[in-house]
Amino acid sequence: MTGTITRLKLKNTENMPLIRVNSLDKKYNEGKNNEVHVLKSIEFDIPRGQMIAIMGPSGCGKTTLLNVVGGLDKYSSGSINIGGNNIGEISEREMTNFRLDNIGFIFQLFNLFDSQTALENVTLPLLLQGYSPDDAIEKAKMMLQEVGLGDRMNHLPGELSGGQQQRVAISRALITEPLLILGDEPTGDLDSETSADIMKLFQRTIRENPQMSIVIVTHSQTIAEQCDRILRIEHGKVASDEVLK
Ligand SMILES: Nc1ncnc2c1ncn2[C@@H]1O[C@H](COP(=O)(O)OP(=O)(O)OP(=O)(O)O)[C@@H](O)[C@H]1O
Ligand SMILES: [Mg+2]
Repeated sequence: MTGTITRLKLKNTENMPLIRVNSLDKKYNEGKNNEVHVLKSIEFDIPRGQMIAIMGPSGCGKTTLLNVVGGLDKYSSGSINIGGNNIGEISEREMTNFRLDNIGFIFQLFNLFDSQTALENVTLPLLLQGYSPDDAIEKAKMMLQEVGLGDRMNHLPGELSGGQQQRVAISRALITEPLLILGDEPTGDLDSETSADIMKLFQRTIRENPQMSIVIVTHSQTIAEQCDRILRIEHGKVASDEVLK
C-alpha cells in the first residue's frame, strides 16, 4: 500500500550495549583511483546510560563515523547494531523512521530550516511523530526556554547568532527524547558558560533516561572530561578508549 510507513521498533535488548560497532570500514569513491579510506576496522560498544566524547584531529573521520552510525551515510564493510537492529540490513525508508523515533542528530553545520523560525524548527520532529500542533508547540517552547532562547523563538535561523542556532539544533535533537543523541561538536559555537549549561542539560537528560546514550564529537578537552568516556580516533582508527567515570 502506498503511503504506509514501516516503523522499526527497538528490540528487547535492554541488557545489551545500545551500540555495537564491529570491524567498521568506510571508503569514499570506493574502487576509483581517488578512493579515500576514512574509517579502518573501527570497533567499540556504547552501553546505555553513557555519555562518550569522540576526539581526534581534523579530518580523522569523526563526522563520517557519526554519519554512518546514524545511518545517514553508507559504510563499506563491518557492522553497526543499534538496540538489536543491524542497521546495514534496514531499508532507507525504515532507517528514516528509525532515526525519527530513536536518534537525535546535532549537525556540525546545524542544518536548520532557514525559512522556519526557531520554534518551528524544534516543533517539526514532534509533528512528524504525530503530536498535535498545540502539544508540539508547548513542548518546543519549554525546550527553547530551557536552552535560554525564550525570547528568540520566533526568529529565523538567519537572524540568530551561531551559538543561538546551535542551541536550536540541540533543542531539535533532544525534543523527541531519543535513545541516542549524536552531536557533532554540539558546543563548538558556544561560549564557555553556555557550553557548561548545555553539558549539564545533556547530563541531566541521560540521568533521567538511563536507557539512552549520548555521543559527542569535541575538540575541547574540558568538554570531553565532563563525559564518562573518551574515544580518540587517529587516521581512521581507534587510538585510545579511556573510561573516566
Ligand atoms: N564525500 C566525501 N568524499 C571524499 N572524501 C570525503 C568525503 N567526506 C569526507 N571526506 C574525507 O574523509 C576524511 C574524514 O572527514 P570527516 O569530515 O569525517 O573528518 P572530521 O574528523 O569530522 O574532521 P573535522 O574535525 O575537521 O570536522 C577527510 O579526509 C575528508 O576529506
Ligand atoms: Mg567533522
